[in-house]
Amino acid sequence: MRIIVTGGAGFIGANFLNQLVPTLPEHSFVNVDKLTYAANLESLRAIDSLPNYVLRQVDITDMAQVDAVFDELDPDLVVHFAAESHVDRSILGPREFIRTNIEGTFNLLEACRKRWSRDDDRLFHHVSTDEVYGSLGDTGLFTESTAYDPSSPYSASKAASDHVVRAYHRTYGLPVKITNCSNNYGPMQFPEKLIPLMILNALERKPLPIYGEGLNVRDWLYVADHCDAIWTVIQKGRVGRTYNIGGNNEKRNIEVVDTLCQVLAEETGCRVGELFALKRFVTDRPGHDLRYAIDASRVREECGWEPKETFDTGIRKTVRWYLSNQDWVRDVRSGDYRKWIDLNYGSRTA
Ligand code: NAD
Ligand code: DAU
Repeated sequence: MRIIVTGGAGFIGANFLNQLVPTLPEHSFVNVDKLTYAANLESLRAIDSLPNYVLRQVDITDMAQVDAVFDELDPDLVVHFAAESHVDRSILGPREFIRTNIEGTFNLLEACRKRWSRDDDRLFHHVSTDEVYGSLGDTGLFTESTAYDPSSPYSASKAASDHVVRAYHRTYGLPVKITNCSNNYGPMQFPEKLIPLMILNALERKPLPIYGEGLNVRDWLYVADHCDAIWTVIQKGRVGRTYNIGGNNEKRNIEVVDTLCQVLAEETGCRVGELFALKRFVTDRPGHDLRYAIDASRVREECGWEPKETFDTGIRKTVRWYLSNQDWVRDVRSGDYRKWIDLNYGSRTA
């Protein structure tokens, strides 16, 4: 099979490629990525000389570039990760989110529609988020039939892209599947997201900025489990169907930060009190969703997928990965990263 993986130099895409490329030599994988600030070629070092892997630097918002790569590769499967993915960046600058997440997805769908016929055995797999469903109160779970109610420009752009993907299936018969997943964590995550930001700040004894009162709840899933879920749905899921993916690991943000401090103290031999003292409650995120929680019974019952990692084992693996990959960390924390930290945290009062 010829497989295009968009956004394969980002966090989840790179984990996906690192898991699959070495184990499936019969398939060829082409990483189609613009290489934005969120990409890191270091994440692909283990696979970049394998014969069944190549990278093409392509901006999916540019239809001519998308057409050229589809003409060259004629893919049987497209796994679409590429996106602007950070909620806080979408609040401070939404335009790129609308362009990449909606128009970029549309361009890929058009490329497939122009080339694939209804009875071809091909597939467009769209990787999406639970944030499309908006916020839960203290109880309840998101199911695949929960109404869309996105809060941020990021989640609105992902919701729009999901709708366009479904419309291409209903209208043109394009073979598609969608997965909507909860919060991922693990190796190679860009340190703008909660878990890697806290790990790296704690290691440098910088403040740990917790939005609001730290009571917002996320359902955390180790990234390898998410990648495994996507591959399982590609193989066993029904065409035209949506699958929610989650870790059954609901945690308040404050609990996540406390756990990270404890694990970091154990792994580095420092006093946990020294790390707890770095916690700062800062101005909340506008439109901050209170709680996400996933009902993953469909993917479990139809495809037989279940997460393998618990939060305790996954967090320890993650902390150890950041401790032993300081070169990777140095690579992504460029001048642009510093500008982002100043922009996002500079005006948040404690
Ligand atoms: P990321 O920000 O780490 O990586 C995004 C990748 O997309 C980068 O390699 C970047 O260079 C590439 N990209 C961005 N704009 C592009 C463009 N115009 N053309 C081509 N490539 C472009 O994101 P991530 O956390 O790995 O998320 C991947 C996907 O999974 C996204 O679609 C996201 O919505 C979804 N998702 C993420 C999570 C999570 O917790 N991180 C959870 C559920 C779903
Ligand atoms: O639910 C899936 C989504 O999870 C994905 O679609 C997104 O791409 C991904 O970024 C993630 O979104 P969140 O906004 O939930 O993730 P983030 O790591 O930015 O924040 C997690 C929680 O931690 C959220 O409640 C905000 C809070 N937070 C975040 C940062 C960066 C803080 O309290 N302080 C921080 O500095």
